[in-house]
Amino acid sequence: MALRTPLINVMIGAVQKAARRLIRDFGEIENLQVSKKGPADFVTAADRRTEDILRIELSKARPTFGFLLEERGEIAGSDNSNRWIIDPLDGTTNFLHGIAHFAISVALERDRDIFAGVIYNPITNEMFWAERGKGAHLNDRRLRVSGRSDLTEAIVATGIPFLGAKDHPQFLKQIASVMGATAGVRRFGAASLDMAFVAAGRFDGFWETGLKPWDIAAGVALVREAGGMVSDLKGGRTMLASGDIVTANRDLHGPLIDLLRAGN
Ligand code: IPD
Ligand code: CA
Ligand code: CA
Repeated sequence: MALRTPLINVMIGAVQKAARRLIRDFGEIENLQVSKKGPADFVTAADRRTEDILRIELSKARPTFGFLLEERGEIAGSDNSNRWIIDPLDGTTNFLHGIAHFAISVALERDRDIFAGVIYNPITNEMFWAERGKGAHLNDRRLRVSGRSDLTEAIVATGIPFLGAKDHPQFLKQIASVMGATAGVRRFGAASLDMAFVAAGRFDGFWETGLKPWDIAAGVALVREAGGMVSDLKGGRTMLASGDIVTANRDLHGPLIDLLRAGN
């Protein structure tokens, strides 16, 4: 049985409370799909509601911590070293289309480095969590990144840029390079879960560009604690600031960066 620290208990408690509401909202989507107006406005409201529950619960438990919230932005705390980074609903497009692959993602940044992360898919009841020095877990099971060391056997996840994104030509070069060298590429639609799946050894690697800190912060804690590597596309540590990320186990991280570079 994995030992959850008080910090992880606080994070999981807040996420579970927010998830109860999100599950009810997901149940409404089916009805809304058939309505003329469509569910888009409803989903925007669901994002906000979930974020409000997380903010209220985490503030109760740690009143001095600040926030970086996807929906409501930055809220400074009196404690400058601790900040929650939150995506209340990662995989909004899936949610909107009634696809049960989305998550609540909460990270704690301490002294400008990621300290802990929780990623929860409320539909599958998979709770991924990690704290620095305490390991990565899925519910009560310890996680380890995959042991594959050969790219030809690797499954690599990514995010495909959509309408409005600038990096379509760059992505086409990258995918051309990766798809010809690996066992398969996946696009599931929730960056936080892509990273949790790397931590769990389901995916052997993941890359994406143009992300926001809340898409990847909790995933950084998960992958690192599961023994994997996380960097930007050049192998540096700017992923939260640049939004560009490559993650994999220790054997595949370098080769994946080389493949992506070849695609640039
Ligand atoms: C999105 C998801 C998706 C990624 C997008 C993100 P959202 O987050 O993580 O997988 O490809 O770039 O914006 O909007 O669903 O919270
Ligand atoms: Ca997101
Ligand atoms: Ca979101």
